[in-house]
Amino acid sequence: MSGKASNPSTRLPSRLNLGVLVSGRGSTLQALIDACAAPDYPARIVLVLSNVAGAAALERAAKAGIATAVVEHKTFPSREAFDEAMRARLVAAGADLVCLAGFMRLLSPAFVEAFAGRLINIHPSLLPAFPGLHVHENVLASGVRFTGCSVHFVNAEMDAGPIIVQAAVPVDPSDTAESLGARVLGAEHQCYPLAVRWIAEGRVRIKGVRVEVDGAAAAAAPLINPQPTSSISAKK
Ligand code: GRF
Repeated sequence: MSGKASNPSTRLPSRLNLGVLVSGRGSTLQALIDACAAPDYPARIVLVLSNVAGAAALERAAKAGIATAVVEHKTFPSREAFDEAMRARLVAAGADLVCLAGFMRLLSPAFVEAFAGRLINIHPSLLPAFPGLHVHENVLASGVRFTGCSVHFVNAEMDAGPIIVQAAVPVDPSDTAESLGARVLGAEHQCYPLAVRWIAEGRVRIKGVRVEVDGAAAAAAPLINPQPTSSISAKK
């Protein structure tokens, strides 16, 4: 072995420990797993926790050799008791940052408080527009030209809290909720690992409702949708 360490954990002794909360298929988790596989990525997943026993996300974690736990909300008398069980698992696993990744339960104020500033979510819209469920259907029904995704710190309200990064995704008139959702998901899979990287690198600060990111600047150009087509321009 050369003098240079080849083990990522040796090279990055201060990798941020992630606890990832999931409920379903786990495509967002997979994006984080893939990012963490890069030797220079400054975070690793120490626990994947699901409220659903058969969630496909758990298989993805197991395949990647990541510890999993199931805490079924149905088996607890209250949301608070369920959240406390999750909190205890996350703390025991040494999670520094908790990432909601398709986690379909509302969190109690006590849980949010316990991880204040260390709890993030990704939502498939340009928040504060279109919070909640059925996002892509609602986007299509509204006629907006852009949608997107938002990675944000979690506060006591649903789909709210200081926004770390957003991606704008154009809406096409021929879109279905499925085609639009797939396009947004591609952006989500880029944005979540990016936000986690920035947090792990210590570049992110919450300033009131805003988030400052050291070494990142606002995108330079506006995006316009729709764009004139070449056939129309040629007639002019
Ligand atoms: C994403 O659209 C995310 O924004 C939302 O759940 C979806 C991800 O599901 N919170 P999954 O990660 O494939 O389970």
